[in-house]
Amino acid sequence: MKRFLDLADFSREEIIDLLALARRLEQHPEPRALAGKILGLVFFNPSLRTLASFQVGMTKLGGSSFVITPGQGTWQLESRVGAIMNGAAAEHVREGLPVLASYADALGIRAFAEGKDLRHDLAETNFKAMASVVDKPLINLESAVNHPCQALADWKTLDDIGMPQRAKFVLSWANHPRVTPIAVPAATVHMAAQRGMEVVVLRPEGYALPPEIMDKARAAAAASGGSVRETQDRADALTGAHVLYAKEWGSTTHYGDSAGDAALRANLTDWCVREDWFGPAAPDCKFMHCLPVRRNVAVADEVLDGPRSIVLREAHNRLTAQMAVLHRLLA
Ligand code: CP
Repeated sequence: MKRFLDLADFSREEIIDLLALARRLEQHPEPRALAGKILGLVFFNPSLRTLASFQVGMTKLGGSSFVITPGQGTWQLESRVGAIMNGAAAEHVREGLPVLASYADALGIRAFAEGKDLRHDLAETNFKAMASVVDKPLINLESAVNHPCQALADWKTLDDIGMPQRAKFVLSWANHPRVTPIAVPAATVHMAAQRGMEVVVLRPEGYALPPEIMDKARAAAAASGGSVRETQDRADALTGAHVLYAKEWGSTTHYGDSAGDAALRANLTDWCVREDWFGPAAPDCKFMHCLPVRRNVAVADEVLDGPRSIVLREAHNRLTAQMAVLHRLLA
């Protein structure tokens, strides 16, 4: 493996094999596997789980890591192609990233969507430009429309709890005080489809995932024997559901228009996941969320603190799943 940028770059069997390695490393730690290896982590956006789990994962495998947060103790980095650099950024990623890559054995980059132009973000324009100047193994720590590390950890979490391949998996939109990216919902719908699940995307008017993302998930489902559909009907989605995965994301009909999105969301405060969502239709349904989560805006305390929630296991699996990725890239 040279790069870990998108689960879609791998076959279902390759993902299953990678998760078998994750389980092997859990049961039989290899504290010298990456001795002398260095991972550089570049975070253009904040993180708690991704930042900590990659540093811990490298240490547990015998390697080390450094973290760059551009503009916070380092030069601010410009990433726009053709930018006239007379503003705050002192250095362009075209120099900065190859320099960092030359110090490291692998690089991870987190760079969220600009959130202005949906076509620009769907094309992963910024991440691809950065990836093109890195000649070392590269990990996507969350880009405009993808979060493969989260998706891999979520797949492992489903396996860990014995969730059947064909189980009903509902990805539900949830409210949030601000516009948030579509990276996690895009990665999640694809992951569940690639795993072979019956996937239902539950979302209000104005929050449909772009056709490119839905088509990609449907192609994965066609290959795995799963299915993908979408609905606005909560009762339809939740009936018989085995997993409810909640995620906040910005309106695709008001992309780049935060005021328009806010006006839509103001009428959607009932899209906060509560216990009564599950009712008799989905009594044993598990609850997932990638975190961070806004309590009592996106998800009620009663769900997050209740027995159906597996959000902490998901977060822990960021470490176990990523250690397999690091092992494959560097051991
Ligand atoms: N889920 C996730 O990627 O968490 P962080 O943003 O804290 O890394």
